[in-house]
Amino acid sequence: MWPGNLSCKDDPDINQHFEIMADIILGIESSCDDTSAAVISDGYLLSNVLASQEVHKAYGGVIPELASRAHQLNIVPVVSQAIDRAGISVGDITAIAFTRGPGLLGSLLVGTSFAKGLALALDKPLVEVNHLQGHVLASFIRQYGQDNVHPEFPYLCLLVSGGNSQIVKINSPLDFEILGQTIDDAVGEAFDKCSKMMGLGYPGGPVVDRLAKAGDPDRFHFAKPHVPGFDYSFSGIKTSLLYFVRDRMAEDPQFMEKNKEDICASFQRTLIEILMDKLVKAAKATGIRQITIGGGVSANSGLRTAVTEEGRKRGWTTYLPEFKFTTDNAAMIAIAGYFHYLNGERTSLDVAPVSRIGDFH
Ligand code: KG4
Repeated sequence: MWPGNLSCKDDPDINQHFEIMADIILGIESSCDDTSAAVISDGYLLSNVLASQEVHKAYGGVIPELASRAHQLNIVPVVSQAIDRAGISVGDITAIAFTRGPGLLGSLLVGTSFAKGLALALDKPLVEVNHLQGHVLASFIRQYGQDNVHPEFPYLCLLVSGGNSQIVKINSPLDFEILGQTIDDAVGEAFDKCSKMMGLGYPGGPVVDRLAKAGDPDRFHFAKPHVPGFDYSFSGIKTSLLYFVRDRMAEDPQFMEKNKEDICASFQRTLIEILMDKLVKAAKATGIRQITIGGGVSANSGLRTAVTEEGRKRGWTTYLPEFKFTTDNAAMIAIAGYFHYLNGERTSLDVAPVSRIGDFH
């Protein structure tokens, strides 16, 4: 069970939570390589500013020390822009929500320290947020001029990012059950490693996704793992790709260059099948037909199509997050912080960030 125990079992309409009071939450996210700040008012998004860190591209992956230094440079302008774009002044902020973990410790320290300093200076409450909970609750970010449909409780979320692959059952805004998760690598890592192996750059997901659109997904076959229950495993398929490429390159050194679209399409199809098999299994076992996806990999066009088509076939109601809310962003931290705030939760100023989910509470 994740932190928080607000139960909506007798009160399943999320609108009621939004209408309790007009609160302005500043959200701060710095768990990995994106510095982001957002402002929401009564659950409505007023601003969402993000500074990505290009410095890691040269290394093919995130370098923790460089990430925390870049956060230090970005945090003040990013927060300041979020406040300006929201059309509020700092004094209007009701509470400050920040990502406490999981993530890179050095990166988390920057956001956490900044949030603590601001809370102290403004004498405003501080609210810690679990980054993963932010991804899962991103479906509740409201935007002016939009329909703002959201899933009904309980719903299932396929949470897929560079650090996680989980199927989560959400009973109420702050009551979560992890039904299954990866026993080794995350699916985002498989996308990133595939790209790195093929010399396509970092982050790998968007590149593989783009190339896969031009390829034949049934051309090559990679072994799928056999993992019990709703858990996942993605380390084997990475190795399977590595051996496949190595063996084919030994026969034809141009093999990868000549076939990169088909390799990406086939590899992506296999990853999506692995994800979807367990999602379908979890939906059947729980009888839940409200399905969402979240996390960076939920931007994948093949996965989005697969979830939509499977949903149509099985009578699910599916909710796909807007692209800007799939990867790390502070809007999702602000909305999760809003629920915690309404639940009366406040974080002490001596809070420290935590890198692993197991250390969260
Ligand atoms: O949620 P996120 O921004 O960061 C965390 O891991 O917390 O997810 C980043 C991951 C990376 O592995 C990236 O390659 C993957 O999301 N990703 C994608 C796509 N866009 C981002 N994977 C597949 N297809 C995409 N279009």
